[in-house]
Amino acid sequence: MPLLAIDKLEVRYGPIYGTHEVSLTLEPGETVALVGSNGAGKSSTLKAIMGIAPVAKGAITLEGKSLLGLRPSDIVRQGIGYSPEGRRVFPYLSVRDNLEVGGFVTDKATVGARMEQVFGYFPRLRERATQRAGSLSGGEQQMLAIGRALMSRPRIFLLDEPSLGLAPVIVERIGEIIAEIQKTEQLAVILAEQNAVWALSIARRAAILELGRVVAEGSAETLRADPQVQRAYLGIA
Ligand SMILES: Nc1ncnc2c1ncn2[C@@H]1O[C@H](COP(=O)(O)OP(=O)(O)OP(=O)(O)O)[C@@H](O)[C@H]1O
Ligand SMILES: [Mg+2]
Repeated sequence: MPLLAIDKLEVRYGPIYGTHEVSLTLEPGETVALVGSNGAGKSSTLKAIMGIAPVAKGAITLEGKSLLGLRPSDIVRQGIGYSPEGRRVFPYLSVRDNLEVGGFVTDKATVGARMEQVFGYFPRLRERATQRAGSLSGGEQQMLAIGRALMSRPRIFLLDEPSLGLAPVIVERIGEIIAEIQKTEQLAVILAEQNAVWALSIARRAAILELGRVVAEGSAETLRADPQVQRAYLGIA
C-alpha cells in the first residue's frame, strides 16, 4: 500500500474543473514532481489533499484511510505539511512567530526544539528571527514558508511552486536544502512545479499534468529522455 494515494481526483469549483482525473501515489521517503503549465491543476491537487479544494469525485487516502472531509488542521495532524504557492507568510508577524504558528499541532514543550532544527536547516532564518516576515526577500520568505510547514514534523510535505520568482542561484540552494531535509527526516515530498528542468533534477518520479489530467508519468530519468517532454517542458527542440 502506498503512503499516499490519489485516485481519479476531480476537483471542481462550481462549473470550473480544477482537475479532471488525477491519479498519483507517493511512497515513504520519495520525491514525486507534479509538473505542468498554468492552470494544469497542480495547486488544485495539493489543495485537495489538504482539504482546501472542493473534491467532486475520486479518492485521497493516507495509508489506506480516506482524508476526504477532514479539516485541514486534522490533515496536518495526520502528518502532512503544506507550503502554499506564493509562500503566504504572515507579513506582520516575526519570523519566529510565523514558525510558531506552523507548530500549532506540536505540544508546547517541543516547539522550541523543533524551531532550533528548522533554524539548523535555514541559518538565514535564525539571523532574522525577530524581523517581520514581510520585510524578508523572496527567497527568505520561501525558506520561511518551508520552515513553517516543517514545524509540525510532517511525514509528507506538499510543496507548491517554491521556485516561483526566485533567482536561479536561490532556487538551487532551496533544492539542496529540500534534499538535505528529506534525507535527514525521511520525508516524502510532492513538488508541484512549472520549472520542469529543476523539478526533474530533484524528483525520483514525476507526473506531467495537462488540463487536469496526467498525460505522462514515470521516473524522472525516463521523462527527461522523452522527446515530447523535452519539447514541451524542458526547452529542448
Ligand atoms: N478557487 C478557484 N475558483 C475557480 N477556479 C479555480 C480556482 N482555483 C483554480 N481554479 C481553476 O482550476 C484550474 C486549475 O488551476 P490550478 O491553480 O490548480 O493550476 P496550477 O497547475 O496550479 O497552475 P499555476 O501553475 O498557474 O499555479 C484553472 O483553470 C483555474 O482557473
Ligand atoms: Mg499553482
